[in-house]
Amino acid sequence: MRDFKCIVVTGGAGFIGANFIRYLLDDAGFSGVVVNFDALTYAGNPGSLADVASRFPGRYFFEKGDIRDPAAIGRVLDKYSADAICHFAAESHVDRSIAAPDDFVQTNIVGTFNLLEETRKRADRISLLHHVSTDEVFGSLGDDGFFSESTPYSPHSPYSASKAASDHLVKAYHDTYGVPVTITNCSNNYGPYQFPEKLIPLMIMNALEGKQLPVYGDGKNVRDWLYVVDHCSAIWRVMRAGKSGRTYCVGGRCELSNVEVVHRICSMMDKLAPPLPGGRPRNSLITFVKDRPGHDRRYAIDCSRIENELGWRRTETADTGFEKTLRWYLKNTEWVDSVRTGEYKNWIEKNYVDR
Ligand code: NAD
Ligand code: DAU
Repeated sequence: MRDFKCIVVTGGAGFIGANFIRYLLDDAGFSGVVVNFDALTYAGNPGSLADVASRFPGRYFFEKGDIRDPAAIGRVLDKYSADAICHFAAESHVDRSIAAPDDFVQTNIVGTFNLLEETRKRADRISLLHHVSTDEVFGSLGDDGFFSESTPYSPHSPYSASKAASDHLVKAYHDTYGVPVTITNCSNNYGPYQFPEKLIPLMIMNALEGKQLPVYGDGKNVRDWLYVVDHCSAIWRVMRAGKSGRTYCVGGRCELSNVEVVHRICSMMDKLAPPLPGGRPRNSLITFVKDRPGHDRRYAIDCSRIENELGWRRTETADTGFEKTLRWYLKNTEWVDSVRTGEYKNWIEKNYVDR
């Protein structure tokens, strides 16, 4: 088992990164230091970790910084004598990558290259760079079959192409320079603190307000859904015990079409949330809209390797995970309102602008 004293988490103010930092400090039994290195783009929300700094003085630190800047990465790695990196920072939204691919190339490819170089320079100290990647690098499945670690890469969007390029760089740095790395390719996550540009939080927030629920195309595209904390436990398992240079596919064994996901959320909300005017059922808000260009039809993961080699199992099903998520969005109105109104960006301006 690997043990770490100080882990630099890139993109720790984003959805999965913030959940991972909470998981590390609250649940994983990790006793070292966590440094959150994040550029605070539109997707970075320090409010997602508002309580963590005060609950873990001396063990949690935030450093505003950009992985496109190699000197900034090097400074933080040395300031804290980091011995591990868990790399989440990325432009993560497929629709944005179609509209404006530049940042995806710069952050996801060049940024990952910078991290690899800065890690390589500190070979005597850094014992692992864990790279968090996606199942989208494998392209699209037909009606049958699953993605696994041996599936050839076939990305279709600028987002997935940039993640594929970053995976190849990570593997190349292991094979060429012996940089110690592990990689996870995970399916669609959902859960607390997810930015409402992604399907599930967008549907929850719109359904709360009685707004339209836009479903792309015929709504029959299939995704494999995983509760975010289960993804965090998989990453931690791989960081601790995964073989260097090895890839692990992570998924929820939970295939659902988009329209099915939206129907489930609507009926849960009809039970748990205040009713819409006139008691209108929320699934009446579903609106089929123009499809996403190059929209992958089906993703499904065979996660036998991480299950068999490392003993990982997901704990939540769609029923339990969706309900937990919905209850979280209903309860955490302050976070939801700050995201909806953009108020958290004012907080960033006040707190980080001069650092
Ligand atoms: P997110 O968009 O919610 O968060 C990304 C974070 O990275 C933000 O805090 C942002 O400020 C930060 N960031 C962006 N550019 C940066 C830069 N140049 N320098 C430093 N920080 C920067 O993303 P997410 O959904 O939490 O995804 C995290 C990682 O997991 C990504 O690498 C993504 O490809 C991968 N992934 C996501 C999913 C999913 O379902 N969300 C599934 C599999 C893999
Ligand atoms: O598979 C893992 C990937 O999952 C991650 O690598 C990405 O970072 C993450 O964003 C996610 O990508 P998707 O494109 O699958 O997620 P998104 O939530 O954008 O869309 C999920 C599905 O829902 C997809 O088929 C498109 C559809 N969709 C999405 C939105 C936002 C809709 O039908 N309507 C919508 O409004």
